[in-house]
Amino acid sequence: MAKVKPYAGETLVDVVGVTKRYGDLRAVDDVSMGIRPGEIFALLGPNGAGKTTLIGCVTGLITGFEGAVKIAGFDAVEDYQITRRLVGLVPQELNYDAFFTARQCLEFQAGYFGVKMSREEIDELLDQFSLLEKADANTRWLSGGMKRRLMICKALVHDPVLLFLDEPTAGVDVDLRDELWEYVEALRDRGTTIVLTTHYLEEAEKLADRVGIINRGRLLRVDAREALMEEFGHRHVDVRLGAPVASRVAEENRGLRLEVLGEDRLRLHTRSGEEVEGDPAVQRLMKGLVEAGEEILEVSGGRSSLEEIFRKVLNEDRAPEGAEGVP
Ligand SMILES: Nc1ncnc2c1ncn2[C@@H]1O[C@H](COP(=O)(O)OP(=O)(O)OP(=O)(O)O)[C@@H](O)[C@H]1O
Ligand SMILES: [Mg+2]
Repeated sequence: MAKVKPYAGETLVDVVGVTKRYGDLRAVDDVSMGIRPGEIFALLGPNGAGKTTLIGCVTGLITGFEGAVKIAGFDAVEDYQITRRLVGLVPQELNYDAFFTARQCLEFQAGYFGVKMSREEIDELLDQFSLLEKADANTRWLSGGMKRRLMICKALVHDPVLLFLDEPTAGVDVDLRDELWEYVEALRDRGTTIVLTTHYLEEAEKLADRVGIINRGRLLRVDAREALMEEFGHRHVDVRLGAPVASRVAEENRGLRLEVLGEDRLRLHTRSGEEVEGDPAVQRLMKGLVEAGEEILEVSGGRSSLEEIFRKVLNEDRAPEGAEGVP
């Protein structure tokens, strides 16, 4: 499969100053951002942050918002007849057609978009999501995870250039989740642009090219995942000692950012972005331990997860001064 096309300096989606009010509540509050062609963009935020509402504004499901959304240059509200063909949406709420079979459901969806799909093509799509054996089952009798996978098939019948996946893995078991993400990556590699939301941050960390963090309707950060990890993340080195002397070692090395993880385990926090080998703090700790005759059983490196970074960004938003300084 062809590799991802490099970003050509254009945006596929432009969100400009979008605000969606429900009474006094700003579910989406002055959000501006761009989605680049060919990327996987993860929109992250706690419950009620405004993710589904923002996706609704972009996909044309929600109208009556302030600001503008353009998809490939077309207005998501005024040119809806055009943009709806560019976009596929897997909604967070399952909306299945209870009286049809899985195959019929896809046939109707194809018809809705004026797309001709042969039986083989429909079966192939079902097969990709491990649903072929349920092709003739009434959708009502599918399990929750199967229904969600059928929703994904439905969103793909018209081969959209832009696919929105709102919590696609909620209720999907671990193996199928992995398969689903593999499929999402394959779609991206074929050139489909993907916007997803998920509460499984380790999945976003693996998959996303860029990440947006939203809270209380406001977009707090948009950045390449790696840039975010470099800026907010830190690296650490964990050391397991041969004796329960972790507290003493921490006492003796007060100048270092040491955390006691257990009687015989220490974590040394190093600065963001620095390579762990060659880090002066790591060298100082190791030298001290060797000179003191401490037995070192294991040394392993790591860095903060996207989940920790996500919490950090949200915490800064909660702090009274921090909220002012957020770009
Ligand atoms: N139709 C509506 N009428 C009134 N309030 C709404 C409506 N839709 C959403 N809201 C409110 O807007 C806010 C954002 O909701 P939204 O569904 O966009 O959050 P979310 O980030 O998708 O959350 P979750 O992670 O739980 O799916 C919430 O406070 C919600 O109650
Ligand atoms: Mg939602």
